[in-house]
This record gives sequence, C-alpha cells and structure tokens, in this order.
Amino acid sequence: MALLKIARMGHPVLLRRADPVDDPRTPEIARLVEDMIETMIDAGGAGLAAPQVHVPLRLFVYMVPELRSTGPDDPPRAVQALINPVLTAIGDEVATQTEGCLSIPGLRGAVPRPARVRYEGIDQHGAPVSGEATGFLALVLQHEHDHLDGILYPMRMADLGRLGFETEYARFGMGSSV
Ligand code: NI
Repeated sequence: MALLKIARMGHPVLLRRADPVDDPRTPEIARLVEDMIETMIDAGGAGLAAPQVHVPLRLFVYMVPELRSTGPDDPPRAVQALINPVLTAIGDEVATQTEGCLSIPGLRGAVPRPARVRYEGIDQHGAPVSGEATGFLALVLQHEHDHLDGILYPMRMADLGRLGFETEYARFGMGSSV
C-alpha cells in the first residue's frame, strides 16, 4: 500500500480523456485501487479518479459518508471502485449540490447535475455492478466520471459566483452543503 501524489488543477493529466481499462482483473489494477482508496481516505475525500493520481485510466473509487447521505434513497456506502463506468441520466430533474475536489484544495462550488443516474461498470472484485443513484451518490459518481473525460467541477458550474473557499462556505452557508 502506498499514498499516491494527487494532481492539482492546472496539471494537464486532469484535462485529457482517460483510456479504458483493458483487463479489470489484473494485480496491477487491484494494487492501484487499493492505493487510491488509501490516498482518498488519507486526504479526507469521498471520491478519487485515476487521472487525479496521474494514471489516465477509466476507473475511480467512491463512497457515501454518513454525513453526506441525503436520505433512505441515498444510504451511506463503504468505499467501492468502479472500472470502465458508464453513466446515463434518468429523467430531466436537476439537483444543485455543493462539491469539492481533492485536485482543487480549499474550494467549494454549487454544481447543477442530473438528479438521478443509472450506473454500470466493474467493481474492485472484477464483478459487473449496476444500479440507480440519487442524492450524494449521484453527485459523486458524476463528479468522478467527469474526471475520466477531463472535466473538473468548475467547468459544470452555472454561476461562478457560487465558487468559494470552504472556510467561507462554512461561515456563510453558501449553497447549503448536503
Ligand atoms: Ni474531483
């Protein structure tokens, strides 16, 4: 196990489209997933995509912390990996939630995204997984999937007036964090 170096906004690795994982069941991928989980937890994040640790492959790790769970439809979840993920929006409803990113330390922003998504992919055990997500799970899956396409959350914001330092978000409750 090892802590990995997290790329910060401005590094070109964050702006390129990542490549599919040829074989999700290799020891190298298992090792990468373990190291990404350790790195995410050490950094206090709820999601981390491979391009953020300088590996341009289509996989990410994510969790729903108890404090971010938005209700019975969006229960807390232990950390999991999603390899070669495919996301599809369900319906037209948009939810605006507050996001942060380990590659953009110290900032928060209010980001509108589809409120419900269907997800498919391969988990860290090599098994196919799929489901529907709402609340924080929908946010984190879309945020991490965006990293695989070179998209950072400020690029999704409708109003850059709602981008701010997390200290000020905490003081003024801008955008009411979930
Ligand atoms: Ni991020």
